Amino acid sequence: MKVLVATEKPFAKVAVDGIRQVLEEAGYELALLEKYNSRQLLLEAVADADALIIRSDVVDAEVLDAAKKLKIIVRAGAGYDNIDLAAATSHNVVAMNTPGQNSNAVAELALGLMVFAIRNFYDGTSGTELKGKTLGIHAFGNVGRNVARIAKGFGMNVIAYDAYCSDEVMVAAGVTPVHSAEELYDKAQIVSLHIPATAETKQSINYNLLSRMPNNALLVNTARKEVINEEDLIRLMSERNDFKYVTDIMPASDHKMHELFEERYFSTPKKMGAQTAEANINAGIAAARQIVDFFVNGNTRFQVNK
Ligand code: 3PG
Repeated sequence: MKVLVATEKPFAKVAVDGIRQVLEEAGYELALLEKYNSRQLLLEAVADADALIIRSDVVDAEVLDAAKKLKIIVRAGAGYDNIDLAAATSHNVVAMNTPGQNSNAVAELALGLMVFAIRNFYDGTSGTELKGKTLGIHAFGNVGRNVARIAKGFGMNVIAYDAYCSDEVMVAAGVTPVHSAEELYDKAQIVSLHIPATAETKQSINYNLLSRMPNNALLVNTARKEVINEEDLIRLMSERNDFKYVTDIMPASDHKMHELFEERYFSTPKKMGAQTAEANINAGIAAARQIVDFFVNGNTRFQVNK
């Protein structure tokens, strides 16, 4: 059984060692394709793989066509918008994610970006503090819950909106539920995005929502660039010089935003929310275990293309 780990953005070495150990204990072979810079290399590497572990690597019909032996793909992480699920299903390939495994890492980065932004990007001038500010968490999944836990340690007033999460879950976490996105953006001086990129959410963070935020607003995006309506964001930031945007996913208009909003905009060069040794170990080893459990026991608990 051959398991290909194809990661354009590699895991920490310690995580690869852990994956190898899990697979070798099961008698499987590990093939490693890291930092590949052409799609052709991926198409060649998947040809004889029975299983595939990826991160944000795109798996579409072309990759699935090339992967003649493939039975399972595990996205070592939360968001699986990089996998063509319908194509996986039609190729009889099970697709899974590893929910929760990297969520603390992403949450820590979200809080780090908040401090960075409200301290004026560490430029030596006087900034503000998180304590006492209202934080709006947009979607209360694994990352949102970790953000809430850490934000409470900072002394923030935490509110959240999630159409798919009950008030009870939020209240138990010490968070005040609100019942529409509009209400969240009306009340929160800082909004942290934790929504997946779906047909429903793409472009949904638009002028209407963002213009509701109170003075000295900060939008933090450690989710996906596709959820932002970039044109609307640029329009709003042009109108409001009290509005800051910090993101872990470089927008298509990164260059323009740097030019226009030099002191109010920041993007990481490459998505790094889940780029910690701990998150790589957790997600990578979970992916390897899920593959073994699938082949040995038929376990499909984390399947996302049912
Ligand atoms: C996720 O969906 O798990 C995060 O966005 C992390 O993605 P990455 O593995 O590409 O860093």
